[in-house]
Amino acid sequence: MKFLNLGCGNSYHKDWTNIDFTSSSEYVIEHNLLKGIPLNDASMEVVYHSHVLEHFSKKDGEELMKECNRVLKKNGIMRVAVPDLETIAIEYLRNLNLAIEGGNDARHNYEWIKLELFDQMVRNKSGGEMGKYLHQAFIPNEEYVFNRIGLEGKNIREAFLSEQNKERPVGNKSLYRPSRKKKVKKLIKRYIFWLLKKVKLQEPIPEAEIVYTGNFRLSGEIHQWMYDRYSLTELLKKVGFADIRICNAFESRIKDWEKYKLDVVNKEIRKPDSLFIEGRKL
Ligand SMILES: C[S@@+](CC[C@H](N)C(=O)[O-])C[C@H]1O[C@@H](n2cnc3c(N)ncnc32)[C@H](O)[C@@H]1O
Repeated sequence: MKFLNLGCGNSYHKDWTNIDFTSSSEYVIEHNLLKGIPLNDASMEVVYHSHVLEHFSKKDGEELMKECNRVLKKNGIMRVAVPDLETIAIEYLRNLNLAIEGGNDARHNYEWIKLELFDQMVRNKSGGEMGKYLHQAFIPNEEYVFNRIGLEGKNIREAFLSEQNKERPVGNKSLYRPSRKKKVKKLIKRYIFWLLKKVKLQEPIPEAEIVYTGNFRLSGEIHQWMYDRYSLTELLKKVGFADIRICNAFESRIKDWEKYKLDVVNKEIRKPDSLFIEGRKL
């Protein structure tokens, strides 16, 4: 099979060629896509990437899309999924207005949608504020959050809750109460943070912190650009694709698409916040 999944993370099919920075799986080739795609011209029938393009700068993203076009055979299918800037913007404005009117749910939804918009661009630590939101004892707008980020968000949440349950002694009534050990750890962390802040006011930023932040920001976790149905269509056109169609998670010109469980797993959309698009190589 000549199907290619770029920046696959943990979402790949073993019959495809899968590429990511690093992986512990024998089915994934380790490679930095900033150096191009390590495959021959016109060697693939399908190229797919999901929630990868936004991790490249606008310029590098265009280079990646050119590379996708290069490795595809004539009439090969390109499928891209990215977080949809348009729906995030609509949700932001809708919840902003509702929050101003005093809606309690909207207040929480407004906080969440702002995280979707900014957190992955500005964070300097893995997981960022979004991770903290999903790891708090009680999520006030769980339904909204899971409708936005789907199966993946639910998996993160379930992993957190099962970890919490392991730590809790048997018979503890409250499902979400943090342990005493955790509370003490949190207090110590806060104190160290407060001390560091005081020191930082007097001294330049330590080199180690600069290197750590730089390394993190180049590690592929942060978002460097965003797309909507207009800009992504224009990009596909620019690099040489035709028959460009916006689709949903279930629709595809890739034969037996649902069988590969990439955008849909057991009939559930893995990343509902996505914009899905396909083009054909001329
Ligand atoms: C948000 S994850 C998406 C993973 C998967 N495609 C999915 O839909 O769940 C982004 C992935 O892109 C990978 N990635 C980002 N920049 C990369 C690069 N320059 N080369 C290779 N992989 C990269 C990351 O390692 C990560 O696995």
